[in-house]
Parts: sequence; structure tokens; C-alpha cells
Amino acid sequence: MKTLPHLFQSNRDWAARTAAADPAFFTRLSGQQSPQYLWIGCADSRVPATEICGLQPGEMFVHRNIANLVVHSDMNMLSVLQYAVEVLKVKHVIICGHYGCGGVKAAMGRDSYGLIDNWLRFIKDLYAKHHAAIEAIEDPNERVNRMCELNVAKQVANLCYTTIVQDAWKRGQPLSVHGWVYGLHDGLLKDLDMCVSAPEQLPEPYRID
Ligand code: CO
Repeated sequence: MKTLPHLFQSNRDWAARTAAADPAFFTRLSGQQSPQYLWIGCADSRVPATEICGLQPGEMFVHRNIANLVVHSDMNMLSVLQYAVEVLKVKHVIICGHYGCGGVKAAMGRDSYGLIDNWLRFIKDLYAKHHAAIEAIEDPNERVNRMCELNVAKQVANLCYTTIVQDAWKRGQPLSVHGWVYGLHDGLLKDLDMCVSAPEQLPEPYRID
């Protein structure tokens, strides 16, 4: 017996609708993918990367984890990044957080959620660093939202410090790293205007010659 039959049914409906709208869609995509963008976003079910950008399957390479972290020793993220940059040759990497992120909220609190606390420590460290400024914000939701922005900024920096991004720039490969935040309440993306496209934009200690 098939499990979750409703999902298979809706899958068949989707495949039929897609093929009806564009008969060559699956044949074309099964040949190869050539996305222009790599998205690193939160695993939150309300932030489906391709969909919120109005893109089709094949147009965006996607990596998601809890609270859209870029950890320099995370082999999973690094492998996605290396493949996206060196093989697929994406031109843009987008780190996208979202307002009201549960991971960020948890990192700012004192409750324990088990193993995940260790992953969220990266955000707790950032929160500790900016503690006074964050706590000076009156509205608790605004405090979380500000931390969501600071978290994206930190992850953009982390991504630029990787050998993969810096090697690409060294080769002269055009590559920009962007920091965005998505609003769950209105479905809109906000650009944090922190696009990095060259090593000269990085602090000196992190630059690789
Ligand atoms: Co989140």
C-alpha cells in the first residue's frame, strides 16, 4: 500500500499541469540544470526559495538549514557551495533569512530544545556580542527581527571568507554574495544592501592572496 497517497495524487496533478503548460518542460530540465543563483536559506516551511522568487524548477540551486547559517566547517554547506560555484558557475549567492525566525528567537531565549541548542550557539554568540544594542529595542518582535538581520550579515561575511568564494574571485569569476530577509507577514523580500563582489570589500585579516 502506498503511504501518503494524497501527496502522490497532488504530484501527478502538478506534473500533468506543468507538462500541459509547457510540453518540453521535463525533457528540457532532465538534460541539465543551469541555475544562476545559489540560495542559502532557513529550513522554515514558510520560506520556499524558488517559489517566493517566482522562479521555476531548474533556476535556483538551494541549500537550507535551521536559521540559514554558514559555518566554515560545515561539509554539507561547503559541498553545495563548491559545486554551485565551480561546476554550475552560479553568478549570485543569496543568503536569505526571514523575520520572526524561530531559530533566532530560540537562540535569544533561555529554553533548551535539545541538540539544536548547539547549532543555534552560533546565533547566541552573535546575540551576546550585540546584547546591549538589541535589548535597547523596546518591542520584543523588533528585537528578534533585528537579530535576523544581523544574522544574515554575519553569514554573508562567513560565506565571503570561504576559500571557495575567494578562489572564484582570484580566478576572475564573477560572483556576488547578497544578504536578504524575507517577510512572512507580507511575502516580500528585503535587500539588506550588503552585496559583496570583490575581496577588497573584506576586512584585511580574512583576505586570501
Ligand atoms: Co527560520
